[in-house]
Amino acid sequence: MIYLCMCIILLIVVIPMIVVFLKCPQTMECSGEWIGVRKKCFYFSSDTKNWTASEQFCLSQGSELAHVDTQEDMEFLRRHAGTFMHWIGLNRKQGESWKWTNGTIFNPWFEISGNGSFAFLNADGVHSSRGFIDIKWICSKPQF
Ligand SMILES: *[C@@H]1O[C@H](CO)[C@@H](O)[C@H](O)[C@H]1NC(C)=O
Ligand SMILES: *[C@@H]1O[C@H](CO)[C@@H](O)[C@H](O)[C@H]1NC(C)=O
Ligand SMILES: *[C@@H]1O[C@H](CO)[C@@H](O)[C@H](O)[C@H]1NC(C)=O
Repeated sequence: MIYLCMCIILLIVVIPMIVVFLKCPQTMECSGEWIGVRKKCFYFSSDTKNWTASEQFCLSQGSELAHVDTQEDMEFLRRHAGTFMHWIGLNRKQGESWKWTNGTIFNPWFEISGNGSFAFLNADGVHSSRGFIDIKWICSKPQF
């Protein structure tokens, strides 16, 4: 009887601990090829696509083309992008403001050079072009 009780107590205590232990890494960190930086997970593609297809890819991964909210994140993204151009999640309709892919108007805290409607970045900064060229891209999602 005592052994039975001890077994039950062990099961009640140990199983939740194992479950918590197994779950933690997945919820605390970014999985696979995603890179955790502060509160976000970023994915840098090796493939190239146009802006729309890149956004489709990010959406299929439960993310969006990269949203950049801080100077630190911007510096990280530019450094990591290097010389390659990478789409990020800003676009604009002709004559309208830049918007993030979630529809929020971009509060212009960094410059986007050029005359295009779709934004990309590399080590030099953030630029714009028409969306149909195939380049690399960066997705981002919150890190829970
Ligand atoms: C949309 O994304 C921008 C940039 O990351 C963020 O500042 C804003 O809060 C987001 N808006 C909503 C409604 O989630
Ligand atoms: C900017 O875009 C407009 C409209 O597409 C075009 O008429 C103009 O020539 C462009 N300017 C430059 C510098 O590319
Ligand atoms: C983007 O690429 C997709 C897939 O290759 C293609 O179907 C689509 O027409 C392209 N869109 C533009 C604007 O080039």
